[in-house]
Amino acid sequence: MRLHDRVALVTGGGSGIGQAIAERFAAEGAAVVAADRFLDRAAATVRRITDAGGRAQAVAVDVADAAAVASMAQNAVAAFGRVDLLVNNAAIAEGDDILTFDEATWNRNLDIVLKGVFLCSKALLPGMIERRYGAIVNIASVNGLTGLGEEAYSAAKAGVINLTQNMAIKYGRHNVRVNVICPGTIHTPIWEPILQKDPHVFEKLARWYPMGRVGKPEDIAKAALFLASDDAAWITGATLTVDGGLTAGNYRMARDLLAEE
Ligand SMILES: NC(=O)c1ccc[n+]([C@@H]2O[C@H](COP(=O)([O-])OP(=O)(O)OC[C@H]3O[C@@H](n4cnc5c(N)ncnc54)[C@H](O)[C@@H]3O)[C@@H](O)[C@H]2O)c1
Repeated sequence: MRLHDRVALVTGGGSGIGQAIAERFAAEGAAVVAADRFLDRAAATVRRITDAGGRAQAVAVDVADAAAVASMAQNAVAAFGRVDLLVNNAAIAEGDDILTFDEATWNRNLDIVLKGVFLCSKALLPGMIERRYGAIVNIASVNGLTGLGEEAYSAAKAGVINLTQNMAIKYGRHNVRVNVICPGTIHTPIWEPILQKDPHVFEKLARWYPMGRVGKPEDIAKAALFLASDDAAWITGATLTVDGGLTAGNYRMARDLLAEE
C-alpha cells in the first residue's frame, strides 16, 4: 500500500481523471476526499471507493470560489483530521479562438483552471507545512506546453506549470513537494460535446500518438500515484508529460494539419 494512512483530496473527483485518481489512491490505502462542483458526481466516486472497501468522503466545491474552498478544506479536515496529498485536477475547457470567445469565457477558464489551483493550494498548504509533510500534484495539460488551440484554457494551464515550480521552490524546505502532470488526450466526459459532433475524434487523434492510442484516466492516475507517494520523495517542481509520446513526435501533427489547410 503506497499511500497507507495518507489523507488525499482530489478536486474534480467526480469524473474522468479525478475519479480514477481518487479510486487509485483509495486502493493504495489513502482516505480520499472527492471534491467536485457536482456533489452527486463526487458521491458516486465515494460509493465506488467504499464498495471496494476504501474510505472516502464527498464534498461540494467550486474551486474558483474562495469561501467554498475554505469550507471544502474544513470539511476535509473534519472528515479525516488532515490533508496530506492534494490533487488539483478540476477544470473546464471552453472557447477556441480569441476572436470568437468573449471576456466571460476567458475569465471562467482562468478562474477555474488557474485560480482554482491557487485557492486550493493556499487553503491546504499551511497544514502541510505545519506537519512537515505534503505533496501536491497539479494536473495541467500538453496544451500548457505548446500551441494547441483553446487559448484561455491553454494559457491557464501554462500558468499552472509555472505556479507549480514556484510553489516547489518555496515549500521544499518544509518537506512539501509540488509537481505537475501534463496529460495528452484522455478519453473522459470532458470530450462529450466534441464526441457528439465527431464520434471518431479519438481514432483521428490517435494517428498523432506514437503509442497508437489516446490515453485512459488510469494512465494519469498511475503517474499521480507515483508523484504523490514517497517513491517520489526527492522529486519536486517536475513537469511529467504523460501523453503517449504526442509532444515528442508533434512534427507529425504539424505536418498533417498544414497539409489539411
Ligand atoms: N481529458 C483530456 O483529454 C485531458 C487532457 C489534458 C488535461 N486534462 C486535464 O485533466 C483534468 C481532468 O479532466 P477530465 O478530462 O477528467 O474532465 P471531466 O470533465 O471528466 O472532469 C472534470 C471534473 O471537474 C469538475 N469541475 C469542473 N469545474 C469545477 C469547479 N469550478 N469546481 C469543482 N469542480 C469542478 C467537473 O464537475 C468534473 O467532475 C483537468 O484538469 C483537465 O484539464 C484532461
